[in-house]
Amino acid sequence: MKNLLANDGWRGMHATRTTNGIVQSRSVAAILFAGAISIAIATWVCFRLGAGVAVVGFVYLIEVLLVSLMGSLVSSVAISVIAVGCLNFFFTQPLFTFRVDAQQDIVVLTAFFVTSFVVTFLVHRTRQLAAVHREQAQLLDLTHDSVVALDMNDVITYWNSGAEALYGWKKHEALGHVADRLLHTRFPAALEDIKKTLIETGRWEGEIVNTRRDGSEAAVASRWALVRDEQGRPIATLETGTDITERKRVEEALQQVSRLTSIGELGASVAHEIAQPLAAVATHGAACLRWIDRDVPDLEKVRASVQRILTDVQRATEIVRRVRMLAKRIAPEMTRLEINELISDVMVLLQREVLKHNVALRATLASKLPAVLGDRIQLAQVVTNLITNGIQAMSTIEDRPRELTIKSWRSDDGYVIVSVQDSGTGIDLRHADRLFEPFFTTKPEGMGVGLSICRSIIDAHGGRVWAENNPGYGATFQFTIPVIGDSGSGE
Ligand SMILES: Nc1ncnc2c1ncn2[C@@H]1O[C@H](COP(=O)(O)OP(=O)(O)OP(=O)(O)O)[C@@H](O)[C@H]1O
Ligand SMILES: [Mg+2]
Repeated sequence: MKNLLANDGWRGMHATRTTNGIVQSRSVAAILFAGAISIAIATWVCFRLGAGVAVVGFVYLIEVLLVSLMGSLVSSVAISVIAVGCLNFFFTQPLFTFRVDAQQDIVVLTAFFVTSFVVTFLVHRTRQLAAVHREQAQLLDLTHDSVVALDMNDVITYWNSGAEALYGWKKHEALGHVADRLLHTRFPAALEDIKKTLIETGRWEGEIVNTRRDGSEAAVASRWALVRDEQGRPIATLETGTDITERKRVEEALQQVSRLTSIGELGASVAHEIAQPLAAVATHGAACLRWIDRDVPDLEKVRASVQRILTDVQRATEIVRRVRMLAKRIAPEMTRLEINELISDVMVLLQREVLKHNVALRATLASKLPAVLGDRIQLAQVVTNLITNGIQAMSTIEDRPRELTIKSWRSDDGYVIVSVQDSGTGIDLRHADRLFEPFFTTKPEGMGVGLSICRSIIDAHGGRVWAENNPGYGATFQFTIPVIGDSGSGE
């Protein structure tokens, strides 16, 4: 198949070349014909007018120039030769012969001959250089990188198709604009400093942020090179840019994930959470003392303050319990655990979220489920991610109950299975095979890491996680964890 395609391609190319050849020789003949006719007309007119050899030579030179500009070296050389012949035959003594007697005429003919060849070759050379430039520009269009040339006033003088694709402006729209004004470029340092580096070292590299035509931002790894003329004077800057928007997004998302789990972050939020009930305890305690210190202590007020103190202490204790749980996240450890207990813990933690979104959360947990070996915090994170996704998938549902059901049971082949079923939008089948890919999200505020984290955790536990749409509406996400053998292996 590949070879066939390759052969076809070759044949296609060969055919194109042959066709090009025919077209070219036809156009050479046409130019030659047109040139010869115009020489004949000019000769006739000049002869009738009795024009001098110098005037006729000048007229012929213009014709040679025109023929050269039409692009055929062969025809312009041929026209030069014909013109010299005509000049000699019709305009130098003796007329109507190819003999030249006067020395002056020999000089004129030689001058004409040399000039017409110089004109022909200069035009030909210029056209060749232009073709080379065009080819080079086409080569630059093959790269996916953006390639932009700027003059010393930062005006865009070249803009390849990579730049068109990256920024959205076509070449003719971008040329002539000042680059950083068109692209609203944000530089990592002051532009003057960057230019100083460029002038001193001839190059600069860095990450910049440009605004595309549609208003979105593109992070770009940009490499600048200074172009100098033969005297060493800077004449232009060549900027090559690689789109790193996606890479930046991934980096930022990863940073956010690791930030969430960093000890510093945990410490700060714990301090903040506990400071509140502690401050309340202090206030109520002080009030208590005031009521007791009265001549006639107001025991009712004391009792109310003590009650409030107890409530706040309870809150602080709950926070400490959660922190203990989270603290294990930092040093993951596999322990024997009851999956049902873990599910219940997560449900308590997500209670507020569930109420806020008007969701009916139910659990059908099999009794006497065997223990599994796992990292408590990581598995809690899996259940949390699945429940959160379920809640989010139902957030737009108004015409039916928002129901989230968590089930656990034991499979025949030695696994505990947990399923999280929602009555939400269901999985869009176009994305079904991408759900677990890192950073795949359909939510404007989503990071797209939830399910990929779930997968890596479950993989590390020797289980499997998958998703399917329900027969009616909504989706069900399930995962398995191997049960610990009766002997308690692994402990
Ligand atoms: N219960 C569900 N019903 C329908 N689609 C879902 C459900 N759960 C996940 N998805 C789809 O899978 C995508 C990826 O989910 P994932 O949890 O990994 O990322 P996210 O929820 O978009 O963002 P985040 O990383 O903040 O959790 C979601 O954007 C959504 O399109
Ligand atoms: Mg999610």
